[in-house]
Amino acid sequence: MALNADQGERLGTARLRGVLGLHRGYSAVTAKGRAFRVVGATAGVREVLEIADVHDLLTGGGGNPTGRSRVGNGMQAIQVSQPGGPEVLRPARVPAPEPGPGQVLVDLAAAGVNFVEIYQREGRYPMPLPFTPGNEGAGVVSAAGPGVEGVRPGDRVASVDLEGSYAAQALVAADRVVTIPDGIETETAAAVMLQGMTAHYLLKDVYAVKPGDTILVHAAAGGMGLLLTQLAVKLGARVIGTVSTQAKERLAREAGAAEVIRYTEADVVKQVRRLTGGAGVAAVYDAVGKDTFDASLECLRVRGTLALYGAASGVVPPFDPMRLQHAGSVVLTRPTLRHFVLDAAQLRGRAEDVFAWVADGSLKVRVHERYPLAEAARAHDDLKARRTTGKLLLIP
Ligand SMILES: NC(=O)c1ccc[n+]([C@@H]2O[C@H](COP(=O)([O-])OP(=O)(O)OC[C@H]3O[C@@H](n4cnc5c(N)ncnc54)[C@H](OP(=O)(O)O)[C@@H]3O)[C@@H](O)[C@H]2O)c1
Repeated sequence: MALNADQGERLGTARLRGVLGLHRGYSAVTAKGRAFRVVGATAGVREVLEIADVHDLLTGGGGNPTGRSRVGNGMQAIQVSQPGGPEVLRPARVPAPEPGPGQVLVDLAAAGVNFVEIYQREGRYPMPLPFTPGNEGAGVVSAAGPGVEGVRPGDRVASVDLEGSYAAQALVAADRVVTIPDGIETETAAAVMLQGMTAHYLLKDVYAVKPGDTILVHAAAGGMGLLLTQLAVKLGARVIGTVSTQAKERLAREAGAAEVIRYTEADVVKQVRRLTGGAGVAAVYDAVGKDTFDASLECLRVRGTLALYGAASGVVPPFDPMRLQHAGSVVLTRPTLRHFVLDAAQLRGRAEDVFAWVADGSLKVRVHERYPLAEAARAHDDLKARRTTGKLLLIP
């Protein structure tokens, strides 16, 4: 039911008067325990409120079992208004989103921090401004839009396609969420989904690792590196890892790396040739980019594969394709996860494998730190400065 302002004010709270200038979608509970939601345009318009039964907003038509999502003074999120350093990641209160057709709203327990958000924040991957970074996260579905089937409020889900997961809540298309199996904690799902599925497609599809292969994994103690190392070993490969410090070397060995090279000190090509009897490796998994690319090419065996899947040290400059012939008719690819989870079946298939490996203990998920959402800038700073080992999570 829509009310005019006089009727609204008969609810008798200063707080209610306070919302009359607010945006569409704002919702709150009055001091008398009545829930309301702004349903119309607000500028100069007094008929803006829809009164709903509190119970209805919390559990019924709006379907909100947690009571967090649609009731309250907007939501907490990180906003970027201009490209720049970590300081442009500013905590803000923004309108709580409402699910449209085919969408669900997720109350996030944790959001995953990924290197791509550094590229976006810096403006290397341009974004429409302002924006809330982040696509990875896990939590509980708190509302479903029209036409949603198969996902319901109350479901525990994870996704890598959330619309701004550095927030308390985020929208996502219902066919881009995966149900978290019993026995896997919500935070673990947020920590492993994107990087786990990336390791899955890199090792099973980009170059399908075979028992007995020797492969090279750069930054082997990073979020990606620890997962790649464990899974490659599980698939029967011998892993040579590269890292920058002694502490990282220990972690890479614990993850299963047979050999570890400190690439900040040693000659990687020479060491890899020595460790492979001169032959080179079947595949190199390189997301360091600019600083490692030349060595990666030289470490390959004849007809080996270089999976260049990131650019933590910077982007590889243009190069002459003849170099691929000189390196031994090698294959170079620059893959990205979204092309390997194109439809719901691919997405769920990969995620289910990853969750199953976590559940049976064959894939250990190392969380470097859980940062309060408001400290997203510190998380970015740590990741960029090579201070981290494993996954970074933001907790709203
Ligand atoms: N293509 C895809 O589908 C996909 C998906 C997920 C992630 N990625 C990529 O995977 C890479 C790793 O992501 P992550 O989140 O797991 O990060 P991470 O590996 O935990 O952190 C990056 C690591 O790279 C190494 N590194 C070497 N030179 C560096 C430099 N100049 N600046 C920063 N780091 C440097 C550091 O390890 P050391 O100190 O041991 O050198 C650092 O800890 C990123 O490039 C990301 O874009 C790609």
